[in-house]
Order: sequence, then structure tokens, then C-alpha cells
Amino acid sequence: MKILIKNIKELVQIEQSPGGLKRGRSMGILATLKDAWLSIENDLITGFGEMKYFPGISDWTNLEVIDATGKMVFPCWCDSHTHLVYAGSRELEFVDRINGLSYEEIAGRGGGILNSAKQLQAATEEELIQSALNRLNEIKCFGTGAVEIKSGYGLTIASELKMLRVIKKLKEISPLTIQATFLGAHAIPPEYKGQKEKYISIITNEMLPAIAEEKLADFCDVFCEKNYFSKDDTIKILEVAAKYGIKGKIHAEQLSHSGGIEAGVQCGAISVDHLEFASENDIELLKNSNTIPTILPGAQFFLGLQIPPARKMIDAGLPLAISSDYNPGSCPSGNMNFMISLACINYKITPEEAINAATINSAFAMGLGNSHGSICVGKKANIFITKEVSSYGFLPYSFSNNLVERVILNGEIPGRI
Ligand code: NIG
Ligand code: FE
Repeated sequence: MKILIKNIKELVQIEQSPGGLKRGRSMGILATLKDAWLSIENDLITGFGEMKYFPGISDWTNLEVIDATGKMVFPCWCDSHTHLVYAGSRELEFVDRINGLSYEEIAGRGGGILNSAKQLQAATEEELIQSALNRLNEIKCFGTGAVEIKSGYGLTIASELKMLRVIKKLKEISPLTIQATFLGAHAIPPEYKGQKEKYISIITNEMLPAIAEEKLADFCDVFCEKNYFSKDDTIKILEVAAKYGIKGKIHAEQLSHSGGIEAGVQCGAISVDHLEFASENDIELLKNSNTIPTILPGAQFFLGLQIPPARKMIDAGLPLAISSDYNPGSCPSGNMNFMISLACINYKITPEEAINAATINSAFAMGLGNSHGSICVGKKANIFITKEVSSYGFLPYSFSNNLVERVILNGEIPGRI
């Protein structure tokens, strides 16, 4: 299968060869080509350039030609932080919050993550696959082509394995590229109330070995937060994960300053995510590390949390990734265009910075930077074509509108659902 897209108004986020993360000032630069063409063969990008230098077509067999006059082409969004395998929903807690309860108060009453865990434990693998496939299809329509999905609503060995096996199945049948993260340390299950150490030893001595044996996780995450897992717990868990060759990712400084960034830097985590309570010292620590700060503007918006120092991080020369956190409790949406709008509006991030954060940097934040996140020959043909738009800044400007007209994943290799 070959695809040629011609007359592209602007081809966004091009790279002549696979580059690295965008940091600091370079986040403000978005390389584009106006009046361009792009070719795809099988699941890869094979070429692009300006229409005036279009080399012509020598072989028309199996070729679909798309005329993109007035439209732009982007690499698909990369969403490096989601919990999109879940059962049920939590709109009753949403109403509780409207009536004045905080996320912490709801969790203290057995709601929150434990509420989702109860619902997930009762669901079959088949039910979880079906509902997650619907969500994957939904985010695909919003332009997402690669996504990380966490476990963490299982909280028992059987249910954590069930979640990770569901994610493994999704990797096989979905056209999106999927990375799996083990998040057994998402909350202390009720049966271990007051016995956190015991639950941590189940995570390190039983869950991680079983997960490594079945190769079910690309990353291991910890919710480093007051009343959940401390900085020391986080380090302990990630050190065991590292022994199995599984890199860390951390829910850090979301509801309070809990030392998640320090833990992440110490353990060489690939990313630290949320960051509402990140300090000046955390920014200094991140400067001397390869850990990617990742903001989740949808969760911060939905929970009404304070603004993370995202602007300061870019100004300090750091790379920044943007993801959705799609989950039933703190962000029931995986619309990446809305996430970049929120970052621009609420954090004073420019469209160029936000697009870099949601494509190449978020690809790196889930270990896919060499194959995803930019228009580059040899990278995965995961791209979207917009409706007719005036400029790339029109996307974050048009918050909540879906300007994605067509999504091509893996060059549209048939057989995936
Ligand atoms: O990323 N903070 C912890 N985990 C999720 C929320 C999970 C939930 O409420 O179900 C988050 O916000
Ligand atoms: Fe999360």
C-alpha cells in the first residue's frame, strides 16, 4: 500500500533525520514546509518535499493519491500518560467535587482510585478490551497515533495482570502504537490499609517478577504522593523494576510537594508527570538529568489544581512533554488538541512549544522518539490531515473543536481494528 498526499498547505514538524528532544528555546521552533507533498509506503514515511520539486510518480500500482489543498499535515499526537483501560465511570465524584469535596477527601472515603479498582476487578478482560478499544478509536479521531496506557486499577496480582494482558491484547489489535506501564503502586488497597510495607513487598516480590516474566510492561510507575507512596517507597519500587530492565515513570508533585521529581532524577526515570507543586530546586535537578518533565493540563484543569511551573521549565532550558492523563477520575478526556489549548491558554505556552511538547517530546517520554513524533523519512506513517485551516496556531486557538479530518496510522495496513 502506498499513499501520496499532495498540495499540502503546510507540512508540520518535519525533520531531515531523526533528532532528539526539543528543549528550552528550541521548543519555540517548529520546522514546517509550505505547499508540500508526503509519501508513505507500507507503514513508513518514505519522502516529503516542496510541490515545486515533486519528482513525479514512476509506479502507480497500489497508490492512493490524496489532495490536501488548504489542509495541513501533522505527525499524530503522542500521548505518553493515560489510564484508558478502566471500568465504569466516576461522575458521582464529579458532583461531590462541585459540592465542595476535594479529590483527597473523596479518596479518603473510599472513592477515587479505589472506586475504579472495585469496578475494574469485577470486569472481564473482554469488557475491558471493548471499552478501551472505543476510547482508542475516540482518541484516534482526535489525532492521537501513539499512546501509553497504565495498569493501576487492579491493585491485586490477578487484576494487575488482567489489566496488563488487556493492554498487551490492545497492542496486537489496535492500529495505534501502544506502550504499557505497570502502576501497581497507584493506591494502597483496602485489604492493606495501615500495612503499606506489606503491599509494597507484594509489588516488588510478586507483581514485578510475574510481569517481567510475561514481558507485560515497558515502564513502571508510582503515584508518589501524601497518603499514597513516599519518595523512599518510590525509589524502592523503581530500583526493583530497574533490575528487571523496566524504566521508571512517576506521578510527581500533583497534589503536594512529595519528592517525586527527586526520586525520578535519582532513579533515571524516563519522565516525571503532573508537576503542579514542582519547586525551583526540582527545576535545577531536572536540568542535570535525562528525565522529561511532563504536564497533564487536563487533570490540572478538571481538578482545579494550581498551575505547574511549565513556563519556568522551558525558560530554564528544559524539555517539556504534554499528555492527557485520560482516566475516569481526574481527566475523562483524551483530546490532545484540548490539552495543547489548555497549556497555551493557562500556562502561557506558545503553539510551537505546545506542538513540540505533544509530538516529539511526548514520543520520547514513552520511549518512541526514534520512530514517532515527527515527519521524518523512515519514521512510522502516523499522521493526520486537518480540515482547511488558516495556520497551525489555529489548532490550539480552536479549543475543543476537532479539526482533524483524516488519520493515517501505520500507513493504513489492513487487519487492525
Ligand atoms: O494521574 N494521580 C493519580 N492517578 C490519576 C488519577 C487516577 C484516578 O483518580 O482514577 C492521575 O490523575
Ligand atoms: Fe495519571
